[in-house]
This record gives sequence, C-alpha cells and structure tokens, in this order.
Amino acid sequence: MNTENISLFYAANIYTAQGNNEQIITDAAIVVAKGIIIWLGEKSTLPKVYDSVEVTQSFNNGWITPGLIDCHTHLVYGGNRADEFRKRLEGQSYESIAREGGGIISTVKATRCSSEQELIDSASKRLEGLLAEGVTTIEIKSGYGLDLENEIKMLRAARELENRYSVDIKTTCLAAHALPPEYENRADDYIHTVCESILPAVHGLNLADAVDAFCENIGFTTAQVEMIFNKAQQLGLPVKLHAEQLSNQDGSTLAASYNALSVDHLEYLDENGVKAISESGTVAVLLPGAFYFLRETKLPPINLLRKYKVPIAIATDSNPGSSPCNSLLLMLNMACTQFSMTPDEALMAVTHHAAKALGIADKQGQIKIGQQADFVHWDIEQPEDLAYYFGNNPCLQVFKKGEVVAF
Ligand code: NIG
Ligand code: FE
Repeated sequence: MNTENISLFYAANIYTAQGNNEQIITDAAIVVAKGIIIWLGEKSTLPKVYDSVEVTQSFNNGWITPGLIDCHTHLVYGGNRADEFRKRLEGQSYESIAREGGGIISTVKATRCSSEQELIDSASKRLEGLLAEGVTTIEIKSGYGLDLENEIKMLRAARELENRYSVDIKTTCLAAHALPPEYENRADDYIHTVCESILPAVHGLNLADAVDAFCENIGFTTAQVEMIFNKAQQLGLPVKLHAEQLSNQDGSTLAASYNALSVDHLEYLDENGVKAISESGTVAVLLPGAFYFLRETKLPPINLLRKYKVPIAIATDSNPGSSPCNSLLLMLNMACTQFSMTPDEALMAVTHHAAKALGIADKQGQIKIGQQADFVHWDIEQPEDLAYYFGNNPCLQVFKKGEVVAF
C-alpha cells in the first residue's frame, strides 16, 4: 500500500458525534487520505499497513470533535439595526417595527446600497469570528436583496467567501423573506416574480443549494410558501422553512409534506407539527440567539421533539435584526440554559444534526470512516465543557479536509 499521501493523527480523546457506542474513543488514531477519514479506532488496533506512516500530529491532551457546523445564518447583509434594538428595549415589538417598514426591510435598503465587495468584507469579519471557534461549514441565506439583481449579489458574495476561507459554504435562496416595498399590497405578484424569475435565475447560475421562506403573519402565508416549494421541487432544490417563530401557521406541516431538510425557529410548533416533521425526517433547527435577543418567552417544544425523536440542530441565525451573534459556542450554552437541552444534545446539534439540516450528513458532522476530515482540537477536560463555559473560546487548532487551517 502506498502510504505517501496518508496522514495519521493520534488523539487522547475523541467525541465522534456518531451517537452510538463509539460516541467517545480514547487513546485513538485517525487515518486520513485525500481529505477523507479512512480509518478510526483505538490506537492499539491500528492496522499494520499504517505502521510505516509517520505521525502527522499527536493530540496528547484535550479533545477532538468534528468541525462545528452553523446550519442557519444570514451572514451577508448591509447596515446594522442597533436603533431597532433600542426601540424594542423601549417596548416596541419586533412585529410592529416590521409593520412600520423597519425590520427586515431596513436591512434590505442597506443591502441594496452595498456593493458586492462591501458585503464580502463585512461578512468576512463575521465569518472570522465563527471560524475562530471551530466552525468548518456554514449555511448562508440571501433574503435582504428581494429582487433579482440584489439576491444574486448576496449569493455571489456568500459563494466568494468559500474562495477566501477554509470553510464549506452552503447557500440558500430566501427571496421569500419579506415583501419588498415596490410590491406593497401585491404579495402574490412578488411570489410570482420569485417563482418565475428569481429562483430559476439563481438556480441557473448555480448560486443556491436550497430554498427557504419566512412563513409568518409578517412574512408569507402557507399558500404562498407552497408556490415557492413547488418551484423549488421543479428545479430539484431541497427546501427549508422559517416556521412557527412568532405564531403557529402550520408551516412545519407544509414543509414536512415537501420533505424539507429543516424547519427553523419553532417556538410555536404544536404536537401535530412535531409528528409531521418526525415522519418526514425533517430536522428541527432551534435558534437560541433569536429567542434571547427578541426576549421571547414561549419555548420551543423540546420534550415533544424528544418524544418523536426529531433530530435537533442549533445555529447562530447570525443576522442584524433578531440575532446579531457570531458565536456558535455561545449558542451551545444558550441551548442548554434556555431550552434545557443537555450538553450532549447541544453538541450533536452543531455537528451531526446540523449536517443533516444541510443534507450533507453523509460527508460531514461526524468523525467517522468515510467522512471529510474536518475536526477541531479543544483545550477542554470533557466535551460538556463546550456547552458549560460561555464567553470562552478553548479552540486550539482546526483541520479542514485533514489540513490545518490558519486563521
Ligand atoms: O431568522 N425570521 C426571519 N428572519 C430572520 C430575521 C431577519 C431580520 O430580522 O433581519 C430570523 O430571525
Ligand atoms: Fe433566520
């Protein structure tokens, strides 16, 4: 066997995110070829063929986990909404700010005024914050352009980040995020434009890996979302949905009927909705940053999600309105303190389940034979420490496809 292009890592402790009896492996070895894990197990059982391979690196202390995955972000945008934060602290609601033409629409105005380069530069700073905490894959949504030119600009900026950083980026077209001002009182016309112009164009340019929408009183109705989903299906794109964030619209049930990869937010999700997503294998993406920053009090139905064995992911939802946050580690802690998730559930939520929410669970999110060799070395005593500490970054080193990532 030619062992020339093979890397061998020794690790005192690995959290694999396999969720089985191999969840933790101690005194382990990982063998990597062409960026893929080709062998994993206890060092003492390493096959003889690898005896001649020089050890690339030994992690004698701390823990190795899969690279973290932030499966729901709006990282690319112009401007900032600190003024609305102040208004909300004075008592105005998120919905009423949106109805006055603020909210998402104020970010649409700022994003339309930004050049592609400005969007790349501002998103880069946010991305660097995520990468420094061991994030190796992120999803980025459009949805602050709301016309063909500006949705394309956002998605191109998102794709460009992948060329600049050692990160995998999944892009999602969220053109049905809000009604643009030029379509006031003509929501159906806008949905028609999204279906007949924006979605086919971004798909034709290979700028979208999935399609999302905001199903809400201040967003779009289930009937409108259904038109978006039909178009996505025609184009062969998987769907996701911002659902049940501020009220129960039964968006999750609709999304389940389209085999959505994920439904996201879910504070108002009821048992029927949980059953529906359980049957379709849809991931529940919870967003503790938005829950916290909007000072919500209605908790997502964690116990029902557990009862129906729905995989739960968590993400930053990084965006200027409801979650101006670029720390996935902080979300781990908040998922536990606010939603009573266990530290292990929270870790699965930013690894294997986050990969599922992006439709890439066969390649990423676990330390397992056949998976991409994306992993992080942490200065921690046990995996729970990643959820236990907050405002603390114990990331020592990040590996993407078996190569150390400089940041
Ligand atoms: O995920 N809920 C809708 N969309 C974003 C917020 C967008 C914004 O306020 O700018 C979210 O919370
Ligand atoms: Fe969001």
